[in-house]
Amino acid sequence: MTAIVTDRVDEKRRRILIVATSAAGAVAGVGIAAPFVASWFPSARALAAGAPVEVDVSKIEPGQQITVSWRGKPVWILHRTKDMLDRLPANAPLLSDPESKEPQQPKYIKGVDRSIKPEYLVAVGVCTHLGCTPNLKKEVGAASDMGPNWPGGYYCPCHGSRFDLAARVFKGSPAPKNLVIPPYHYASNAVVVVGEDPKGA
Ligand code: FES
Repeated sequence: MTAIVTDRVDEKRRRILIVATSAAGAVAGVGIAAPFVASWFPSARALAAGAPVEVDVSKIEPGQQITVSWRGKPVWILHRTKDMLDRLPANAPLLSDPESKEPQQPKYIKGVDRSIKPEYLVAVGVCTHLGCTPNLKKEVGAASDMGPNWPGGYYCPCHGSRFDLAARVFKGSPAPKNLVIPPYHYASNAVVVVGEDPKGA
């Protein structure tokens, strides 16, 4: 996949990430590459202090995921397709916390999709077992290497925890809880601000 990442400074002097993906990359790279763009962010000191990170999500193709860095942690932004979203409700009986009752997300994150806009999952990519980074396994069933009943999700290579595409943990995983959803909001239709609650939240 070819991902071109540039940055610029907006009127608020915050950095915005713009991810442009070639047409070929959009097909070949989906699910394979998860560009990690930490180097484009503010200084390590600013990040350690919790500086919000702005990301332009408009160029993320459906089915594609990018990874950004916030407070030294990987944060995924997955552009979920309608098919991905339609599969989420059926996972409930297989999940440890299908309704996200554990406080693994801000209070304004509700519902089966665990997001503000259903098409964009924003989640901290740190396994709740011992902190490895799970891999995106978005292919479904026989098309995946996760077994014929796999509905798409994430797999932690360290000890085998599995999560669905709303970052909810499957029963039987060593991980005890769903993955964390960080505070975030939309500064505009296309710009997600990771690390900052919506006004009034
Ligand atoms: S760290 Fe993910 S399963 Fe152990």
